[in-house]
Amino acid sequence: MKKIIFLLLLSLATWNILYAQSGLPVIIGSIKNVKKVNHGFAAKMENARALITCYSPTIIRIRIDQKELEDDFSYAVVQQPSSDFREIKETKEAWILTTDSLYLEITKNPFLIRILNSGKQVISEDYEKFPYSWLGTEACCYKKLFPDEKFLGLGEKTGNLNKRGNKYENWNSDVPAYATNFDPLYQTIPFYIGIHDRVTYGIFFDNTYRTKFNFGASTDEQFMSFSASGGEMNYYFFGASTVAGVIRDYTWLTGRMPMPPVWSLGYQQCRWSYYPESEVIKLAESFREKQIPCDMIYLDIDYMDSYKIFTWNKERFPQPESMIRKLNAMGFHLATIVDPGIKIDKDYFAYNEGLSNKYFVTYPGGENYTGSVWPGRCHFPDFTRAAVRKWWGESFTRLTEPGVEGFWNDMNEPSAWGQSIPDFLQFDNDGHKSSMAAAHNVYGLNMARGTFEGTKSLLKGKRPFVLTRAGYAGIQRYSAVWTGDNEATDDHMLLSARMVCGLGLSGVSFAGPDLGGFIGNPSRELYARWLSLGVYTPFFRNHSAWDTKSKEPWSFGRDIENLSKELISQRYRLMPYIYSGFYTSVQTGLPVARALAINFTYDEKTWWLNYQDEYLFGDNLLVAPVSCNQDFARVYLPEGGWYRLSSGEFYQGKQEVTVDAPLNDLPVFARASGFLPMQSVVQSTSEKPHDTLNLHIYSGDKAAAFLYYEDDGLTYEFEHNTFFKREFRFDPANKLIILGNTEGTYNSAFNKVKLILHGFHGISMVKTDGRVLPLVPDSSSQQSVVLPFTKNEIRIQY
Ligand code: GLC
Repeated sequence: MKKIIFLLLLSLATWNILYAQSGLPVIIGSIKNVKKVNHGFAAKMENARALITCYSPTIIRIRIDQKELEDDFSYAVVQQPSSDFREIKETKEAWILTTDSLYLEITKNPFLIRILNSGKQVISEDYEKFPYSWLGTEACCYKKLFPDEKFLGLGEKTGNLNKRGNKYENWNSDVPAYATNFDPLYQTIPFYIGIHDRVTYGIFFDNTYRTKFNFGASTDEQFMSFSASGGEMNYYFFGASTVAGVIRDYTWLTGRMPMPPVWSLGYQQCRWSYYPESEVIKLAESFREKQIPCDMIYLDIDYMDSYKIFTWNKERFPQPESMIRKLNAMGFHLATIVDPGIKIDKDYFAYNEGLSNKYFVTYPGGENYTGSVWPGRCHFPDFTRAAVRKWWGESFTRLTEPGVEGFWNDMNEPSAWGQSIPDFLQFDNDGHKSSMAAAHNVYGLNMARGTFEGTKSLLKGKRPFVLTRAGYAGIQRYSAVWTGDNEATDDHMLLSARMVCGLGLSGVSFAGPDLGGFIGNPSRELYARWLSLGVYTPFFRNHSAWDTKSKEPWSFGRDIENLSKELISQRYRLMPYIYSGFYTSVQTGLPVARALAINFTYDEKTWWLNYQDEYLFGDNLLVAPVSCNQDFARVYLPEGGWYRLSSGEFYQGKQEVTVDAPLNDLPVFARASGFLPMQSVVQSTSEKPHDTLNLHIYSGDKAAAFLYYEDDGLTYEFEHNTFFKREFRFDPANKLIILGNTEGTYNSAFNKVKLILHGFHGISMVKTDGRVLPLVPDSSSQQSVVLPFTKNEIRIQY
């Protein structure tokens, strides 16, 4: 009998192998046995193993592979399971795993997962006709597509906000002048959010190989799928009941951005390339002479000697240190570009160090891989090795010593001329040896990580600013992201708003495009319009290619210069609001630029193609991007009330409106019941604003709160309680405005607060601290009163 069973099993196994070799898929099969393990449940199927782990009541991890699961390793995930299933029980047909929020049914034959919320509503389920399967090394998961299902996320993607009906691929690619429907681009963030039947969920497929997502493209509306060309079927399921909750959980798992230096939130001027030193100084002086605020200047590749990383071209920049000192004295911070390619040159220290320490990526035989980039023939550091990241990080001393504080990581997809680096190159993968097929998509992440960790340590207590083109899930922990080599067209400008929101939905809050377009020459109108959108974009940088016309704010005639000055000044007026918004994002993972689908998920109109570019900038501003030659715009205002920022005009929400949209007035609206803390215009964040915080409050019928935050903007002293944080509360039912008690030991930059009330009709005074204070009418819809900005709670009765 035993022999028969043995022969039967053997023939089954052989059949499977033959089946796999036949080019047909291998299907997971039914559950053979299960085991309860720490934080979870392990199952063995006919053709695979699975491990289901509870990370939190709303986060479940699912790992499936044909072979024994390998050592657990991830570049994205920074958390461990923090809770357990409340109950695991068996029924005749299934295993049931429950948490406080979720209910998982795992059918035995075949292995299929269905996830329900605590109200027993199905949130997500495997597609029964196609269980987990493998085609060669490609692992695939199919999920049922719900009739009304919508999809958000995947980071930096072109196309519509709602990804339904489309397919996407993740393979970090250098794609200059990418078309507005091109895929894939520079970043890989295999995380999406699904919404159907008034439920939400998220899935993060933590697999660094080339991944594919099919959101119901050519599938007869039956299923969606995701797959990877190698590696495990390894995904995290997020079952929070709101889009914001899913983002919060995803950024808990993969980490949130660190508090950026405040100067990186100002206006940034870049070009390929500003040189020599005299031109850089002249550029800085021009900003100051013209009184156009600016915080950062960038040096592109031409500052280096023969494009050798960590070197200076001595003719163009004979004394970087004194140049940077001059820039700093004028209130500028300098960023320089670094690329991964290390020039093959026996007189170059980085080449020699890399060579002797075996820091470079190799062919399978051990020979260093060679590819050509700007410097000519290069070797490439293996950033997936801790020792290499450390070396790379320490090498920045040649930039930090003279005073560079911003580090722009480019070409890190990685890119080499020809764009086709062989997949069989060898990587350390932090001890989990792998090939380019697995390391490619995390190359940029690890370069940015080496850069961030190294420069953070070199700057001795000052916050570095890192910018990257390529990345993987979790990149927000190290770097801001810009959306690569776009073009000077209206379509690219509008797409950039969606891409920034897409990155924000996927954990990357600090993002923005090259304003004005990198390739090509924008018209005066496009330049101005894009700059006005940039004011309300987390990352605010003007950049352009070497063969384009000048794009400094004064390059388009006097009227555009004046307009640009006004627009950039507005960014600086908003700085207290923006800095607080970044703080909130650091705390919660909620993006600074938020697709309306986050707050107004079930309002169909926010998904309409003509309104999908609109977003919230921070809690209280709604931005409606408009192409450059439009004088009017059709805007959708979601639920609530909205005040046009420029005029104070009030609009009831949940309606489409046609509004003026002249070049000097992008449609931006303040939310009713919202606070907007602002300051006087400064020329850079290093200049102190006037000592009065201009606190705008927009009347509304809903109670609301705003988290206000300040610190020195430069160091990590905030980790030692040196910050100034308080909650502003608006309580219309009791006609109260409360500036809550202050937390932290930092002294605010402001001694006074000017409450600027919008739309509070029929009120002529306020009472505070037993005193009656008259309101001064500033305009027909706006009144104000100035109070001391003391640390203790301030209650204002109106
Ligand atoms: C790449 C970058 C671009 C940079 C250029 C030269 O194209 O995307 O921003 O200016 O290289 O370094």
